[in-house]
Amino acid sequence: MVVFYKKIVRPIFFLFEPEFIHNLALWYLSWFSKCKLLNKTMFKVCNFTSPRLKQKIWGLYFRNPVGLAAGMDKNASASNAWAAMDFAWAQIGSITDQAQPGNKKPRLWRLPKDKGLVVYYGLSNSGAKAIAKKLAKNRKNKTRGLWSVSIAKSNAVSREEAAADYAKSFVTLEPQTDIITINLSCPNVKDFSGLQNKKYLEPILEKVIPLNKNKKPIWLKIGNNLSKEQLDEIIYLVKKYNISAVVASNLSKERGHLNLKSKYKDKPGGVSGKAIAPQANKIISYLYKHSENKYKIIGVGGIFNGSDAYDKIKAGADLVQLITGFIYNGPGSIKVINQKLDRLLKKDNFKHISQAIGIDADKNTL
Ligand SMILES: Cc1cc2nc3c(=O)[nH]c(=O)nc-3n(C[C@H](O)[C@H](O)[C@H](O)COP(=O)(O)O)c2cc1C
Repeated sequence: MVVFYKKIVRPIFFLFEPEFIHNLALWYLSWFSKCKLLNKTMFKVCNFTSPRLKQKIWGLYFRNPVGLAAGMDKNASASNAWAAMDFAWAQIGSITDQAQPGNKKPRLWRLPKDKGLVVYYGLSNSGAKAIAKKLAKNRKNKTRGLWSVSIAKSNAVSREEAAADYAKSFVTLEPQTDIITINLSCPNVKDFSGLQNKKYLEPILEKVIPLNKNKKPIWLKIGNNLSKEQLDEIIYLVKKYNISAVVASNLSKERGHLNLKSKYKDKPGGVSGKAIAPQANKIISYLYKHSENKYKIIGVGGIFNGSDAYDKIKAGADLVQLITGFIYNGPGSIKVINQKLDRLLKKDNFKHISQAIGIDADKNTL
């Protein structure tokens, strides 16, 4: 299936403008998502199970450690299709309280020589209320897999008013999701990444955490270009407010160190894919070394195969997720990643994934 996608489907997709193909794929998957029989058949073809890969965290069952990262399904168009492709969970969004168009097009470019993308969407989405309605409808057909809904600050709202804005999205979307992620790190909206500083982050957590009456896991998504000092502040607040997990990391705004080679490498936006993996792994290791077992880590950035996923797990990630690798390798790639992960764990004599988490954390220094 992966070979068919890479040899036939991808070359056709890559002839067209990336956002057009992204929307076309979602349109197709939205129909797919509604049909239980198609979902069931797809799952039969795509799924791989192994007792080594299963985890129960926060009372939730993760059938494997691999999830879909935010940005693929911003408006919950295909929320039931992801589990059929063997993603253990899908991060939906990011979603803002106010519907917003995002940045002007074009705003997505492929970097084929670097196995990456330049993303400049600027948090386009149809708004929390409309998406909550869609999720409520899709829930009726949800048979497997978890949803982590990602919320972000509306672009029209200042950083000073961010807490109230996040709170509104939280209240609207929390009933429809298993996990909620607070995205603090979109590099494509002016001043957004500043939300990671204690001055803005603490009021957000102070306002949102007491709203979590159903005690759902709350994840914080952080950026790829943070200093040690910024990370220390985030770790302090994560512990203080009992945040369940840190998602590391988002797109890279900085480019100089990435050595990109593709034609569109200088387009505005954040870079995803292979080139950002080393920095993401360093952040994961740093988070792991300072976690004192108080929070989990979701590793993201540049996962294309089982070895990439294993690097993140050994750096300290409990779960991993991807989007660019999925765009480049297609729907069959999740099974291949899980099969390889299982083989790698077996080769290293680990009976369960939990034994491998963080064993290489000291190899990456920030
Ligand atoms: C097309 C696209 C859209 C994205 N949109 C979002 C978003 O809305 N919210 C978010 O937290 N991250 C977003 N991201 C970042 C990804 O979730 C992920 O953190 C980043 O791309 C690194 O993972 P990757 O190398 O597997 O792509 C987006 C990424 C891509 C490629």
